[in-house]
Amino acid sequence: MTTPATSAKGLEGVVAASTRLSDVRGDIGQLIYCGYDINKLAGKVTFEEIIHLLHHDHLPDRKELDELKSLLAAKRELPKGVVEIIKKFPKDTPPMHAIRTAVSALGCFDPEADNDSMDENRLKALRLIARIPIITAYFHRHRQGKILLPPEPSLGEAANFLYLIDGEKPSAEKINTLDMCYVLHADHGMNASTFSARVTIATLSDMYSAITSAIGTLKGPLHGGANEGVIKMLQEIGSLDRVDAYIAEALEQKKKIMGIGHRVYKTLDPRAPHLKRMAQILSAKIGEPKWIQMSDRIAEIMLKEKNLHANVDFYSATVYYSLGIPTDLFTPIFAIARAAGWTAHVLEQLSDNRLIRPQSQYAGPVGLKVKPIDQR
Ligand SMILES: CC(C)(COP(=O)(O)OP(=O)(O)OC[C@H]1O[C@@H](n2cnc3c(N)ncnc32)[C@H](O)[C@@H]1OP(=O)(O)O)[C@@H](O)C(=O)NCCC(=O)NCCS
Repeated sequence: MTTPATSAKGLEGVVAASTRLSDVRGDIGQLIYCGYDINKLAGKVTFEEIIHLLHHDHLPDRKELDELKSLLAAKRELPKGVVEIIKKFPKDTPPMHAIRTAVSALGCFDPEADNDSMDENRLKALRLIARIPIITAYFHRHRQGKILLPPEPSLGEAANFLYLIDGEKPSAEKINTLDMCYVLHADHGMNASTFSARVTIATLSDMYSAITSAIGTLKGPLHGGANEGVIKMLQEIGSLDRVDAYIAEALEQKKKIMGIGHRVYKTLDPRAPHLKRMAQILSAKIGEPKWIQMSDRIAEIMLKEKNLHANVDFYSATVYYSLGIPTDLFTPIFAIARAAGWTAHVLEQLSDNRLIRPQSQYAGPVGLKVKPIDQR
């Protein structure tokens, strides 16, 4: 038996891949996309520019950006078969289940699903980025018994998604806010869902299978599902004066506070201040400052008591809530944005592939004798 070279519960500290896409510098609270600090990108470039950056390793010029936007807009329409599948989902299906299954179904309706040429894979990547928002919006409208609107090609990614869920053209403020959330969520090193996508594609499976794996992984409350947990917690607490007692009791019972803590960041998550700023502006506008006040108090207590900082999910929850987005679409929005990173990682893995196959440390007995069935 060979002994594994490294063993770490939860693969903590283990380097699983080399990437040019993003770097999470947990010790100094820095996030880099292809050489650019997230703080230099946030508020200055759009989600489509980030897609281009992650997929082509440079920020686009005007012509490249226009081309990418037209390509994405042209790829939004879902195969009829996938729309039919979405319409058959029970209306109370949690959206992440619906999205995972519909994304998997996209593979059944793409004759090129198993075509492994790099050019085809690039096209499939764009199709997925363009279609995950449509799947999300269509499932949301289906469960409300509303008609499914055709995508609007003149609108960018964030605007089109808001238009499809609300049925009306969104305000510039709403579009810019969601777009910046997309930018901040687009990629994040070897996070759990990206790792899933890379493990799946490393078997030379296919792009749809890899992204389906990633969505299933993102869904969990320790990963993308935390943003829903934040708003549920805020609603449960109800008011600022109840925060201290609620958190004290939760910590006493060793419960995890959603939106707090991070495997890699041991200081402030650099995405959090951008989201906090947006949350402050929006919650003041909708006349419900209590959400941000409660959030700030929770963050203050967690830092003091446990030396843990707020992460990306903590303030994004208040931002989405203030935009009027239903709570169970928070994690799907994370998926829409992270599809940019997942697909870029899949393409990167394919460009220099090696099967990802770690070992386990056997902790069971050896040498057991097999007794005949009537003697066990
Ligand atoms: C993100 C997360 C899974 C990282 O987990 P991890 O690296 O495995 O860290 P651990 O769970 O080992 O936590 C280390 C310590 O901090 C505590 N801790 C970590 N996150 C905590 C939280 N959100 N609330 C309360 N305590 C927390 C742990 O209980 C543990 O304490 P202990 O040493 O006294 O046992 C974890 O912080 C968490 O569950 N956060 C809430 C979910 C969330 O927001 N996820 C989104 C991440 S972007």
